[in-house]
Amino acid sequence: MGSEMRPEQLDREMIRIGKVLVTHLFVLLKTAQNYNEGHSAIQAPIANVINTAREIHRRNEEASLRLKGGYLLLGELRLKPDAAGFDAFMFLMGMMKRFFIGSINFTPAVSAGEVGAFAYLLKEIEPVPSPQTYQKIVDRMQQRMIVNIELEALSEEEAFERSDSTDIKDSKATSRRIYFQTMSAVSEVMDNAKMGQTLRLRKSKRVVQSMIDQLLAAETNLVGLTTIRCHDEYTYNHSVNVCILSLAIGQRLGLSKPKLCELGMAALFHDIGKSEIPLEVLNKPSQFTPEEWETMQKHPLLGVKKLMRLKGLDALSARIITGAFEHHLNCDCSGYPKVPCKGLSLFGRIIGIADCYDGLTSSRVYSRVPYSPDKALRFMLAKAGKAYDPVLLKLFVNCVGIYPIGTLLILNTRELAVVMENNPDPQKWNVPRVRIIADGSGNEIEGDLADLADPAGGRSVAGVLDPNQYGIDTSRYFV
Ligand SMILES: [Fe+2]
Ligand SMILES: [Fe+2]
Repeated sequence: MGSEMRPEQLDREMIRIGKVLVTHLFVLLKTAQNYNEGHSAIQAPIANVINTAREIHRRNEEASLRLKGGYLLLGELRLKPDAAGFDAFMFLMGMMKRFFIGSINFTPAVSAGEVGAFAYLLKEIEPVPSPQTYQKIVDRMQQRMIVNIELEALSEEEAFERSDSTDIKDSKATSRRIYFQTMSAVSEVMDNAKMGQTLRLRKSKRVVQSMIDQLLAAETNLVGLTTIRCHDEYTYNHSVNVCILSLAIGQRLGLSKPKLCELGMAALFHDIGKSEIPLEVLNKPSQFTPEEWETMQKHPLLGVKKLMRLKGLDALSARIITGAFEHHLNCDCSGYPKVPCKGLSLFGRIIGIADCYDGLTSSRVYSRVPYSPDKALRFMLAKAGKAYDPVLLKLFVNCVGIYPIGTLLILNTRELAVVMENNPDPQKWNVPRVRIIADGSGNEIEGDLADLADPAGGRSVAGVLDPNQYGIDTSRYFV
């Protein structure tokens, strides 16, 4: 495994092998274009691709090629074309873009038959860069039972990649993109869980990583997005929110990036057991019957069962499983499932807080009428030291603020305002930055941002309003 190699050396070695893989793929696809399926000329190129993928797997790396920011990456390593490999690079990148393929991954089990079939399958499809083209490829791959080559579609930003990527720097747009990418990743995994398939978390891991980067760069935007409510996709929506809120706590705790990634994954899949709960129960608009409530309470254990199907159980899976198991247990073990309990793991305590907050402030689950953010926090603070870890809860309040992002306020001027950002000084918790959305007479306006900490503005918080009562969707100020 080359374990004594220093990381830089390993990276250099991986980049070298990555370039070899690109070249062999280029030769394979070219050969497939020139010879019919079954011709012996294709055998050597197929073998070369497989052997190179094996070489990568032997080093415990992923044999995946991915387009990002106009570059081709092997795993996370950027491959730079040299003069000799330039044609192969341009060909492969062009091919991926034309077929709307964002990444190609060869799993360790990939066979010669699959690699050959994949090369010929591309020949049959017209290269029009669109999601439909990509879907066609995926469908054909399914028909031909190619399961050990995994594709991902081109992301929006790659599809419209320009040399000057100022848009991508727009952090609000980036936050929103990451939010929806995460929702799509979690829905995919949960759909697979529902069908009892092996769960693959590669894509989810990647979106969680971009979420962490974004959170470190611009926390406010991402946390603001947790006010998004997609009523038809409650569980996915909720999962992403719990992930963001858990990460926000983890970040304030000073967890390292790899730990944050584990926490994010555990939070993202904490409710995976709900994929087993009948939709009539899950989406019931009225109160649960005692039997339905009993069914609902099974989801932590069902989640554990689902998660045992994770591809290659490892330390990460163990922590994800713990998160799923513990999130309703409460710090004092007063929750469910009823099991012998000697306290919760750190992740369980963090996810429990994020989960409860998002559950209370959204219009589904448990409380049918959502709590306003400050009411939810007060409700939870009353249980500090019992259901919730008091230190973590304090960190959480600090990070969402006593007027959390998205709270609808009425000001002393009778204006309505939405909290956009908390004052970075924890002492000034009562003077957030807001956007004015209605004037003193109640007329809706596209108002300015106002910093309530600025005494010259003469504005202060008079009270908190329930946005539902006023028919105001506060998320629209963040999306
Ligand atoms: Fe849950
Ligand atoms: Fe939950």
